[in-house]
Amino acid sequence: MKIAILGFGSVGRGIAQIVAERDTGLVITAVADSKSGCIDNNGIDPLELINRKEETGLCGEKGITAEYIIENAEYDALVEVTPTNAETAEPSLGYIRLALSRGRNVVTSNKGPIAKNYAELKDLADKNGVRLKYEATVCGAIPIIHTLQYSLAGNKVKRLYGIFNGTCNYILTRMADEKLTYKEALLEARELGYAEADPTYDVEGIDAAIKLVILANAIFGMNKKIEDVEITGINSLTSQALELAEEDELTIRLIGEINNEKGILKVSPRVIPKNHTLVVRDTLNAVTIDTDLAGEITLIGKGAGSIETASAIISDLLFISNCHDGSP
Ligand code: HSE
Repeated sequence: MKIAILGFGSVGRGIAQIVAERDTGLVITAVADSKSGCIDNNGIDPLELINRKEETGLCGEKGITAEYIIENAEYDALVEVTPTNAETAEPSLGYIRLALSRGRNVVTSNKGPIAKNYAELKDLADKNGVRLKYEATVCGAIPIIHTLQYSLAGNKVKRLYGIFNGTCNYILTRMADEKLTYKEALLEARELGYAEADPTYDVEGIDAAIKLVILANAIFGMNKKIEDVEITGINSLTSQALELAEEDELTIRLIGEINNEKGILKVSPRVIPKNHTLVVRDTLNAVTIDTDLAGEITLIGKGAGSIETASAIISDLLFISNCHDGSP
């Protein structure tokens, strides 16, 4: 399957690395970053791409834009991993619309367009007989979307709750274990590269809320906006509150929850026992799915990272390339 990659930052390069190292059957025919692009319909050597980016900071020639690639390159699926503003969803949204309307499959890691425009984009994909996949948008490497769509098919999900933001989890872990202040822990989290470009999205609970909106709309058929989520972040949490919890073998985690029966979405810091399944360390994410048939299932894993996010993208691409039966 031929793929065109828009965005050659850490996720784009992670995808190229996997394509270089594994026999995936994926061929990269075009790549663009914000400054340059390249097209070779016979296939581009992924390692050469990575080296060029490291050496010159460019993935191709100046002047070959993302739009030009969407309209002119040969590809079966567009991999849309551009740095995109979560609020406006641009430029990702425009690229996704253009590729879908040209009858191309799209795989994205960008949360904004899926949270804001899922119904419209799914409709566009259906009308053009192609797929829109977005596993990487929620909890990075954890196959939460696939699990809900396919592995738990036939179940009724009553509630889904857990840790959806690695940056907040890291801050809370470091504040509790190393007695760091909120500011010191946030600085460390930013240095590790997990925080959003604007870390207020993380610490104010907005990033977690956007992930809940994606699941609510795309998986549970709701019609939620970010304003519908009750949000409290960790930005005004004090070290004293954590210390008090720790004295009683409790701790604090930022928990996101969808109550599917009541249609309520909520993100807030909660006090939970230190030995609770959801008390995962550092930047891990963890989600418990409470179902009527399968009971409770908890998935734990890495919620961000270059190769981890690329893992979710590759899995979406291989799903598309292996599946010709009209499933979503
Ligand atoms: N800033 C996000 C987090 C990255 O910390 O979880 C993944 O969406």
